[in-house]
Amino acid sequence: MDKIIIEGCSRLFGEVEISGSKNAVLPIISASILLDSPIVIKNVPYLRDVVTFMKLLEILGAKINYDKKSLFIDPTTINNFEAPYDLVKTMRASILVLGPLAAKFGKAKVSLPGGCAIGARPVNFHVSAMKKFGANVEIEDGYINLNSKKLNGCFYCFDIPSVTGTENVMMAGTLADGDTIIENAATEPEVTDLANFLVASGAKIDGIGTNKLTIKGVTKLKPKKDYSVIADRIETATFMIASAITEGNILIKNSNINHLDAVVNKLRDVGVKITKESDGIRVVGPGVIKSVDIQTSPYPGFPTDVQAQLMALMCFSKGLSVIKETIFENRFMHSNELMRMDADIQIQGNTAIVRGKESLTGAKVMASDLRASASLILAGLRAKGKTEVSRIYHLDRGYERFDLKLEKLNAKIERSKE
Ligand code: EPU
Repeated sequence: MDKIIIEGCSRLFGEVEISGSKNAVLPIISASILLDSPIVIKNVPYLRDVVTFMKLLEILGAKINYDKKSLFIDPTTINNFEAPYDLVKTMRASILVLGPLAAKFGKAKVSLPGGCAIGARPVNFHVSAMKKFGANVEIEDGYINLNSKKLNGCFYCFDIPSVTGTENVMMAGTLADGDTIIENAATEPEVTDLANFLVASGAKIDGIGTNKLTIKGVTKLKPKKDYSVIADRIETATFMIASAITEGNILIKNSNINHLDAVVNKLRDVGVKITKESDGIRVVGPGVIKSVDIQTSPYPGFPTDVQAQLMALMCFSKGLSVIKETIFENRFMHSNELMRMDADIQIQGNTAIVRGKESLTGAKVMASDLRASASLILAGLRAKGKTEVSRIYHLDRGYERFDLKLEKLNAKIERSKE
């Protein structure tokens, strides 16, 4: 297992290129199951989760080839409909094959994902939506077993907007008979990117980017050309905070600031200078980090996937910050590790109260999930002395060469074996 060692207190400067979005590319890879011909997906980041998803598609029988950010998928050889537990337990996003397999083949056996470090994360919406399409769904031996004739378009209203839930229903609806209407749909840019990919392949979807989607079923989907995935907005936000926390000055390239209004607003309140330049987004960290309060919420609100990183920043603020997590019930695991670095954080239910300090001290800490890993590395960039972050495999699931990109920005950071 790898660990990352950071020597704190160097200012970041220079340029960084943002990779393609993890949470956009995973559903798009899954949507390839629906296609009647091969596809090339571009701007695909080389991440552990992407590798796991490629493996899953291969198990289903698809032909896959990844080369220099381009992913070739031939789904026409798919002849197996089971997503096994061994893969699903390492990546919950595997649930995304349920809708496409149901719509294309009328058969799916997908392992239930089980526990997760950030909350219970049930998949009841995914299952109940497939039943609404008329599929026969049973839970047996830890698997969702689905059998169906052609799916019938349906009306589905989410109790709360679910990102992968909306994606599964949208994908299923593209090849169903008649119209599918999704109310209270998630509006995250990654959902929109999937919708754009499906439309580029011949799907008929209205209301893209809104919380009501109407999908007119078609008989087949065939892409006309390659599709390029959007930039990763969570990686962008993480580098913005990296510059903020080190009083840095960095230019973030290949990203889309329009997907980050809530984060940009909060960082400006913190004192961070964020400006659009012709070739990127310039982010200049403040001399004094002002405290802000945040509450996570579905897009366009403040993303839960940036909460841990913002908490790291608030540990160094002048004042008191109240951070409320409303999406996942157990997404404060990083706080205990930040406290090992002498951060002053109190947790009360879904609220964290952070009293900022001039400095933290480096320590040995352990990553508990993807965004928690990023949070601990960010704190290590400013803490005095050495911070060692173990269990870095979590980081590699969703950040492409994070340590190398930081090193290029002047961070004193290295990776070694535990
Ligand atoms: N929920 C249910 N039942 C369901 C599905 C969801 O109750 O069947 C609840 C969840 O427990 C949660 C809320 O609905 O309270 C929203 O969860 P959502 O379904 O939107 O989460 P997700 O689709 O499983 C995606 C991202 C996560 C991101 C969340 C929220 C992917 C592959 N994953 O998860 O990304 O945190 O949306 O924006 O898109 C990450 O990248 O680090 C990550 C965890």
